[in-house]
Amino acid sequence: MRLQSRWSFTLLLLCLIVFGLLIGVYKITNSPLLNQNGILRDYLDSNKPDNRPATRSILLWSSFFGDERWKLPVDTLGPQDFRDNLNCPVYQCELSNRHDYLPDLELYDAIVFHVAQPFPLLQPLPPRRSSQQAYVFALMEPPGETKHRLNDEQNFYNLTMSYRLDSDIVWPYSHLMDQETGARVAPSLQPYWRQPLALGSWNDSKVLQLWPKKTKMAAWFVSHCKTLSKREELAKALQQHIEVDIYGSCGSLSCARGDPHCDDMLDTDYKFYLAFENSLCVDYVTEKLYGALQHRIIPVVFGGANYTRFLPPHSYIDANRFENVEQLAMHLRYVANDLSEYMSYFWWRQYYKLGHDSPFCELCAQLHHPSFQHRTQIYEDIEAWWFNSCRLESHIRF
Ligand SMILES: *[C@@H]1O[C@H](CO)[C@@H](O)[C@H](O)[C@H]1NC(C)=O
Ligand SMILES: *[C@@H]1O[C@H](CO)[C@@H](O)[C@H](O)[C@H]1NC(C)=O
Ligand SMILES: *[C@@H]1O[C@H](CO)[C@@H](O)[C@H](O)[C@H]1NC(C)=O
Repeated sequence: MRLQSRWSFTLLLLCLIVFGLLIGVYKITNSPLLNQNGILRDYLDSNKPDNRPATRSILLWSSFFGDERWKLPVDTLGPQDFRDNLNCPVYQCELSNRHDYLPDLELYDAIVFHVAQPFPLLQPLPPRRSSQQAYVFALMEPPGETKHRLNDEQNFYNLTMSYRLDSDIVWPYSHLMDQETGARVAPSLQPYWRQPLALGSWNDSKVLQLWPKKTKMAAWFVSHCKTLSKREELAKALQQHIEVDIYGSCGSLSCARGDPHCDDMLDTDYKFYLAFENSLCVDYVTEKLYGALQHRIIPVVFGGANYTRFLPPHSYIDANRFENVEQLAMHLRYVANDLSEYMSYFWWRQYYKLGHDSPFCELCAQLHHPSFQHRTQIYEDIEAWWFNSCRLESHIRF
């Protein structure tokens, strides 16, 4: 009897020791030091990600220069429109300009404000806001054209949507795509460009054919005469050295907007197109430049952008790379008088083409991005972010 109870006591002790050992081993193997994957697995097991993305909803709060639809075809777009009409890779979104599209303003995932106009005067702001939703600062005009003081809107916006490359949603007038891969190359902070083809190693038959008729030097189409960048003075100074034909209300020539002949002239008559911006602001490059790229004409650019982030190398002439107007004019004359030099500016056409995306594709993708859902982002000082991006001085002297 005694022996038996001693045996069962030993057995019990043994069991306890084994049990304790097992717990120890379990603890050690599951400790974060030894089993890091286990932490992730445990988390994923208890928080199964929902693979079917829910639709995100976007409300256009104000109009875009009077256009309630922001150039979209209809008032309200569903996921099918995002996919089939806008060709968005991430398309599970709906968008409307009707404030009552959803029963409550706080239900929208994003509310887009067009900031060019002083909207609090024209249109009240949403009375309530949810901490989950993003207020979007949308603007395509440069700071000089922003008719809106932004000091009332500190700590108001969560996302920016503009031509600036440091915007959350970059909204360029156009972009360049690689023809072979279809990949979007620029604008981008660090674009990867192919090297220009060597002079004389190829021919552009269209340029060869147009060359004999291209007898005029530079064309400039302009409607705002006095600008912050003083481009009008640069053009005038250039006119002292080369022939510059000025079309529009600031010049002596006219060509009706929409007249196809005006566009044709760029191919058939002129060698250079002046794409001078009205302000010298970071990343500010307008549709005029992209318009010129559709023709066999070399754009002469003047602006605040770093153009290598927008255009292929050796596809344009940047006025700000020159010390003064004489040097720029001299270079233009040199290029204009040498067919193979002139033609060499069109090498990129074999590799790149222009493309256009709706900014709402990118907005939709951002609203679905996991990082967006777990992040709070606020622009504390939108005024400084926006207005600090311009300068008044240019490199070229004129
Ligand atoms: C312009 O952008 C390119 C590409 O990001 C960069 O390498 C270069 O340093 C920039 N130039 C200037 C003047 O900032
Ligand atoms: C390009 O055209 C010029 C003039 O027609 C011709 O002399 C030259 O050999 C051509 N070059 C190539 C690479 O085809
Ligand atoms: C947006 O900003 C507001 C404050 O300005 C903040 O309360 C809210 O959490 C932010 N929302 C997101 C989604 O970052």
